[in-house]
Amino acid sequence: MIKVKVPATSANMGPGFDTMGIALNIYNYFFVEETKGGLEISGCEDDLCNENNLVYKSMVHCFNLMGYKFKGLKIRLEGDIPLSRGFGSSATCIIGGILAANTIAGNPLNKEEVLDLAISIEGHPDNVAPALLGSLVLSTMDNDKVIYNRLKIAKGLKFCALVPDFTLSTRKARAVLPKTVSYKDAVFNLSRSSLLVSALMNGNFNIIPQSCQDRLHQPYRSKLIPSFDEIFEKSKELNSLATYLSGAGPSIMVILRENDNDFVQNIERFLEGLPHKWKVIELEIDEIGAVVENI
Ligand code: HSE
Repeated sequence: MIKVKVPATSANMGPGFDTMGIALNIYNYFFVEETKGGLEISGCEDDLCNENNLVYKSMVHCFNLMGYKFKGLKIRLEGDIPLSRGFGSSATCIIGGILAANTIAGNPLNKEEVLDLAISIEGHPDNVAPALLGSLVLSTMDNDKVIYNRLKIAKGLKFCALVPDFTLSTRKARAVLPKTVSYKDAVFNLSRSSLLVSALMNGNFNIIPQSCQDRLHQPYRSKLIPSFDEIFEKSKELNSLATYLSGAGPSIMVILRENDNDFVQNIERFLEGLPHKWKVIELEIDEIGAVVENI
């Protein structure tokens, strides 16, 4: 049996819309084996235990591309990544499915090919790239080819996810974005995203609060998330380095200095007073990315 472990990812990171993504240390696990026939899927909601399952669809896509004829499949899903909350859970299914299919077929695809295929299924690279490679990954598409750079972040930071009890689909969160943005807003994000990446790399964390700001997606999406503005303000007041919408939301990610021992307790107390339930999860960067094991 093949086991694929894939980390959660937090995309956008404020100004890096559709470009920046970071792998974090909560995981989904995919247990896959080829069988003599049929399809058996477990570990997810009943209406996804069928041919519409994203892990299965990604495997079939990959098998077709490689010309591998499979007989049957048994797939079991396990994991801790909250669904439809902005942590790349669908990216884990795509990467898990492709890596499992590639392993069954004898590994004909290299990492770049796995990534290109994953992006063609997901539609954007900023979750699948760090899910596969770990750490912080900057990526974009040049025609049909991904261009990416995986970076190591300077030591001294930790992450804290604020996860609400409601979901938000990426489709809905993309539908509220404008068709065009102003030159001023484009330059605003360009400057912030390059400053943010440089600060994360060289450890000049003092400029993170000003760098991690966005005008391309958060102002539009924030209206879909109850208490967004209050949480942002409170997080700033509690000395976070940065607060941003994780992926398309609805979870909010906070970047803290490693030695911050007060934020979590204080934000938990604040969140208790809000109309929805919010869970606080402390996270660290995953430096490894997806791992395949034969078990
Ligand atoms: N960059 C994508 C978006 C991430 O913001 O729509 C979705 O997970």
